[in-house]
Amino acid sequence: MRYKRILVTGGAGFIGSAFIRYGLSRLPCESLTNLDLLTYASDLKSLETVAEDPRYLFVEGDICDEELVERLCVAHRIDAIVHFAAETHVDRSIQEPTTFLYTNVAGTVALLEVVRRHPHIHFHHVSTDEVYGSLEEGCFTENSPYRPNSPYAASKAAADHFVRAYAHTYQLSTTLSHCSNNYGPFQNGEKFIPRMISCCLDKQPLPIYGTGANVRDWLYVDDHAEALWMILEKGKRGDVFDIGGDCEKQNLELLKELIPIVADASGEDPESYRSLITFVPDRPGHDLRYAIDCTKIKKELGWKPRHSFSEGLKITVDWLMRC
Ligand SMILES: NC(=O)c1ccc[n+]([C@@H]2O[C@H](COP(=O)([O-])OP(=O)(O)OC[C@H]3O[C@@H](n4cnc5c(N)ncnc54)[C@H](O)[C@@H]3O)[C@@H](O)[C@H]2O)c1
Repeated sequence: MRYKRILVTGGAGFIGSAFIRYGLSRLPCESLTNLDLLTYASDLKSLETVAEDPRYLFVEGDICDEELVERLCVAHRIDAIVHFAAETHVDRSIQEPTTFLYTNVAGTVALLEVVRRHPHIHFHHVSTDEVYGSLEEGCFTENSPYRPNSPYAASKAAADHFVRAYAHTYQLSTTLSHCSNNYGPFQNGEKFIPRMISCCLDKQPLPIYGTGANVRDWLYVDDHAEALWMILEKGKRGDVFDIGGDCEKQNLELLKELIPIVADASGEDPESYRSLITFVPDRPGHDLRYAIDCTKIKKELGWKPRHSFSEGLKITVDWLMRC
């Protein structure tokens, strides 16, 4: 393995925890140190299967605390940081944008400052396709211009620019990835898919923004985790990769695929769930369509998504029903 002692930020979140579980179960890592502030978005249950692994260490703390980050890097001889920690909920970014500025931008810069003082450390920044804005046709590529439309997307875009600028100015070793919408076990209940499943199970209205025509590309979370490990292993210094599931769906279309799966698992009539669909006023500035062309990571690193959408949805529904 190219990097053996890794500091993961935000590893108690949805994707960070999948990355840690993947690494400890399949790869010969020497140590994975997880630095997480344990905000409302975290869930330590997602790490129960690895909590006793002697290679795993959890540290509660803030990525903005440079002194703490530096102490961890030195004490654990960290050779790579994989940076997931962020405020990630778009609706919350519309309510309280400054929290996003603090964590997503200042937090990323604090980590980069530590790497600047310890330039042997490789830095991978986990970003989002939302930095590219909304699309009418075609797909985003690694060369698409940045056009963030929500405070969340703007904060991630700003962080991306700092990563690029630090790499260029201080000759740091960095990689960066933009991924489409993830789904799977341990996703926070505020997000679209777990929320829709819970509303079905609780027989509550299924709230759909606008007309349900917004299009997102969906990727099963473990496939994202695998892509990130492959970038760490094989990505060239300075490389940027777009990661997606080749799975574009309108929100309403997604719900129509999800309902029979939930109905099958719960033994309910799918019609009773369909009648719960409720259209609610659209989110301000809601991007209509995201779609991602992930040819580069497929060709250069040999990655491809392993889970079909229906498989991933079944796993997610089964997980939520067990919670
Ligand atoms: N969820 C998606 O669909 C998606 C898609 C593309 C990219 N991303 C990016 O992937 C990363 C992870 O997303 P996620 O969905 O797992 O997020 P999440 O909201 O589930 O988890 C974020 C984690 O970061 C931690 N955190 C927040 N502020 C912190 C701070 N100041 N210091 C330390 N830890 C802090 C939280 O406690 C939480 O455990 C984010 O950077 C996000 O922008 C997410």
